[in-house]
Amino acid sequence: MTIGKSSPAARGDRLGFVSLVGAGPGDPELLTLKAARRLAEADLLLYDGLVPPEVTALATRAQHFSVSKRAGRPAVDQDTIHQVMIRGARRGKRVVRLKNGDPFLLGRGGEEALALRAAGIPFEVVPGITAAVAAPALSGIPVTHRGLAAGFTVVSGHAAGAFEPILGAVVPGSMTVIVLMGLRNRERIAATLLDRGWDPRTPAAVALAASTPRMHLWTGRLGELGTARLEAPADAPGTIVVGEVANLSALIGGTRTPARTADAGAPRTLDGPREQARKV
Ligand SMILES: C[S@@+](CC[C@H](N)C(=O)[O-])C[C@H]1O[C@@H](n2cnc3c(N)ncnc32)[C@H](O)[C@@H]1O
Repeated sequence: MTIGKSSPAARGDRLGFVSLVGAGPGDPELLTLKAARRLAEADLLLYDGLVPPEVTALATRAQHFSVSKRAGRPAVDQDTIHQVMIRGARRGKRVVRLKNGDPFLLGRGGEEALALRAAGIPFEVVPGITAAVAAPALSGIPVTHRGLAAGFTVVSGHAAGAFEPILGAVVPGSMTVIVLMGLRNRERIAATLLDRGWDPRTPAAVALAASTPRMHLWTGRLGELGTARLEAPADAPGTIVVGEVANLSALIGGTRTPARTADAGAPRTLDGPREQARKV
């Protein structure tokens, strides 16, 4: 089996092909060209809950299956996702497994690649723009800014057992800390950093629904992060940033994606310092 050597369209064999595709943070214009092409060619699409309809709509000829665990629905279990991909490929289908952000960053894409390899199914990985960097960037936060941070760490905030040992090992103020899936646990995340000795005045930000028309940014201090009221829809995904770089959002400003209408033009750049100050 080869990975990425021949395009699905170029092969004449009966075995199908699986593309593990990153959809980016939400804005369809942040898909890669390869991701958009794979969607257009797909026969079968399996997509996660955070992928918006504007993106799945690009798979015009495919059968669509949501494997979301959002909106109160039970998740389709991981083994079923593997089996559906494998069965589809064995039937000669071009299968696209579409994930939010990058498929290999906190997205279980590695497990799916291993399952495909074990089953002898040809596949490729189409990396996507990860929210870990894009959500701060669209909020005017360069996660490494010369003189402020020479590196960053990305951690899952889903379970304390996973984030506490990592955050406990980061020397206070030594780098930017980025937490995905951490909104519900943000009080404990902030407490972990404060217990480790981080200064409560360290700048912090939460970028919500970045790259979508629902985008919202909270900025403040680490000491306020745990109790901050985030004025965004409860189901909006959020990326937490802790570190001096978070202050730059007030100087750089955010890039907002307008709701798409027939006459929607290019994305606008707004959220200058004054507009942000009003929201904070
Ligand atoms: C299951 S993780 C998947 C991460 C994804 N693989 C990536 O590379 O971005 C989903 C988390 O990514 C973050 N996220 C995804 N989309 C986002 C967005 N548009 N704005 C802010 N954060 C986002 C949130 O922390 C969310 O809980």
